[in-house]
Amino acid sequence: MPETFAPTGALTVAALPGCTPRLLRPLGTVEDCAEYLAGGGYRPLASAEALLDEVRRSGLRGRGGAAFPLAIKLGTVRDAHLRGSATVVVANGEEGEPASVKDKWLLRNRPHLVLDGLRLAAAVAGARRAYVYVSDEESARRVDAALTELDTAGITEVAIELVTVAPGYVAGEETAAIRAIDGGPAKPTDKPPRPFEQGVGGSPTVVSNVETLAHLPFVHRHGGAEFRTVGTAESPGTFLATVTGAGRSPALYELPHGTPFADLLALHGVPARDVRGALMGGYFAGTVGREILDATLDHASILALGSGLGCGAIALLTRECPVAVGAAVLSYFDRENAGQCGSCFNGTAAMAAAASALRDGRATAADVDRLRRWSVVLRGRGACGTLDGAANAAAALVTRFDAEVAAHLAGRCATCADGIYLADRPFDAQAVMIP
Ligand SMILES: Cc1cc2nc3c(=O)[nH]c(=O)nc-3n(C[C@H](O)[C@H](O)[C@H](O)COP(=O)(O)O)c2cc1C
Ligand code: SF4
Repeated sequence: MPETFAPTGALTVAALPGCTPRLLRPLGTVEDCAEYLAGGGYRPLASAEALLDEVRRSGLRGRGGAAFPLAIKLGTVRDAHLRGSATVVVANGEEGEPASVKDKWLLRNRPHLVLDGLRLAAAVAGARRAYVYVSDEESARRVDAALTELDTAGITEVAIELVTVAPGYVAGEETAAIRAIDGGPAKPTDKPPRPFEQGVGGSPTVVSNVETLAHLPFVHRHGGAEFRTVGTAESPGTFLATVTGAGRSPALYELPHGTPFADLLALHGVPARDVRGALMGGYFAGTVGREILDATLDHASILALGSGLGCGAIALLTRECPVAVGAAVLSYFDRENAGQCGSCFNGTAAMAAAASALRDGRATAADVDRLRRWSVVLRGRGACGTLDGAANAAAALVTRFDAEVAAHLAGRCATCADGIYLADRPFDAQAVMIP
C-alpha cells in the first residue's frame, strides 16, 4: 500500500493579517460561559422578525458545503412555525470531511459561540427544541460542559440536546443527521422531503453547520450591514479555512471571502512555484490545477474554475501526483459511501478501480474515456451528494490534468516513480492535534 506523508503536529490557528477575527480567538483556552457573557454574548433578543431581516441583509451563506443562504432556511421554517407547526433547529458539527477541522475547533474552543448562534436560530425559527449533532468525543465533552454552564446561568430559552454518532463521511449529510437524531442509522434518506419541510420527528427543521451558526451572534450584535463590510458581495463575511498539504502542519485560518489565494499561500509559507494545484472544499469539490494561483477565495471565483469552496478545506498539492490523489479520494468515496444506492456504490467502485488502475500504470485510454463518461452520467444520482463528490474527483482528473494522465497511460509519471503516493485519507487533518 502506498504511504501517506500527511503532516503531523499541532494545528496552527491564525487570522489573515489585517483581518479582525470574528470566530477564532487568540488564546489557547476554552472560552467558558462567564468569559463569553463578559464579551457581550447571549444578548437578549428583542424581535425574532428583526433578526431575520438582519440575517437577510447580511447575506450569510452556509459554511457546511453548499453555501445556501441561511435566511431562506430560517424564513421557511419560521413560516411553518407561524402556521402552527412545531419546528426544530440542528447545529451540524459532525464534520465527516477528513480534510477539515474548523467545526471541531469551534466546538472545542468556543462552544458558547455556537450555542448562542443555535439559540438565536431557534428563536427565529420558533423552535422549542434544538440539537447539537457531533461525532468528535472531545467536542461532545466540551459542548456538554457548556450546556451545564448554561443551565447554571439560567439561560434556558430553548431545550438543547447533544446527540453523538460514530464518525463517517456521510454522517454529516443533513438527512443522515435527522435520521440519527430520530434514533436511526446516520445514513442519508431520499429527498424530498427536505429537512425544512420534514425533519426531526417529522417537524420542519433547520440544519445548519456550526460555523454558519457561529456567525449569527455577530449579525445579532452588529447587524447585517456590518457583517458585509468584509468579504465579497456574493460571499459576505469571513470564513474558516482548513489548510493542509505542502509538507506543513495543518492550519486553521480565518480570512475574508475574496482573499487572493496568493495571500493564503504567503500566510501558510508556501512558495507559489511549488504548487501544482489544490484539492478544494475537502474531498468534495475536486482538484484544480495551477489556475488556482490567480483565483480569489470566494464562491463565485472557485465556481468559475469548475470547483467549489465547500466547507473551506483546501489541500495544497505540491509534491503529490494529481492522479494518485484522485485515485485515493475515489477509493475513499468507494469505502465511505453508505451502500444504500446502487448507482453510488457501483459507480464509486467503478471510478475508484479505473483511477487506481491509471495510477498504477495498468489503465488504457478506453478506461480514461469510461472515467470521463461516468463523471458526467453519474452526477445527480443517489440519495445524497456523495456520488457527486466522486464525479467531481473523476472529472477533475480527466479534464484538468492531461499531462499527468498521459504520463500514467505511458507508465512514466516521474512523481509516482519516486513512490510519492497518498494513502487512504490524503490530507487527513483529523490526525493533527486540535487544541
Ligand atoms: C455526503 C455529505 C456529507 C456532508 N457532511 C457534512 C458535515 O459533516 N457537516 C456539515 O455541516 N454539512 C455536511 N454536509 C452538508 C449538509 O447536508 C447540509 O447542507 C449542511 O449541514 C447545512 O448547513 P449550512 O447551510 O450551514 O452549510 C454534507 C453533505 C453531503 C452531501
Ligand atoms: S448516494 Fe451513496 S452515500 Fe448517499 S445515501 Fe446513496 S449510497 Fe449512501
